[in-house]
Amino acid sequence: MAIFPKQPTIEVDLERILLTNEQIQTRLKELGATITAYYRQRDVNTITLVCITNGSIVFVADLMRYFDMHVRLDSMRISSYLEGTSASRKPQLAADISLDIRNEHVLVLDDILDTGHTLTKVLDVLGGKAPASVEVCVLLDKKERREVPIQANFVGFEIPNAFVVGYGLDFDQKYRNLACIGVLKH
Ligand code: IMP
Ligand code: MG
Repeated sequence: MAIFPKQPTIEVDLERILLTNEQIQTRLKELGATITAYYRQRDVNTITLVCITNGSIVFVADLMRYFDMHVRLDSMRISSYLEGTSASRKPQLAADISLDIRNEHVLVLDDILDTGHTLTKVLDVLGGKAPASVEVCVLLDKKERREVPIQANFVGFEIPNAFVVGYGLDFDQKYRNLACIGVLKH
């Protein structure tokens, strides 16, 4: 199992480490086997991964190597902004996938399921392209934060309601390169 060197210069900003890289890799290996078995049972031998960038880049790069089946890889970018004076966030499609997914089995991969607005938008866009199936896998799930009813089919870890960084997740575009996942000091 790959162990990355310590990152003392950036880890110093963490109040605590929630998940070490080793814990993440152990879970991804299980998740890879679960997802491979799920599609094998359905006689699906090729799936199309839709990576929601940028946050899930590190997660996808690692998880896909635990799949013992063929994958096609594409990515989608969603941008969220605060709309007017309302507190509601409105996700918008910033960059669509380019592969044809008509009659294909799609697995959406995102870093974290929080309020659920982002993935609701993703499923809406993909649903209009007539795929054979669409499943969702997230590394992290903050269940108590949900504002819209959406569930992931596969979840790496359920975590408490705290803002986390690392392993692809950013604060102000930084900390994506942390090998672990942690909570920032305020
Ligand atoms: P949702 O639309 O509220 O479900 O938010 C999902 C997106 O918000 C994720 O793809 C992340 O980019 C971002 N996000 C939510 N919670 C966190 C967090 O704790 N740390 C970093 N990014 C987060
Ligand atoms: Mg994101």
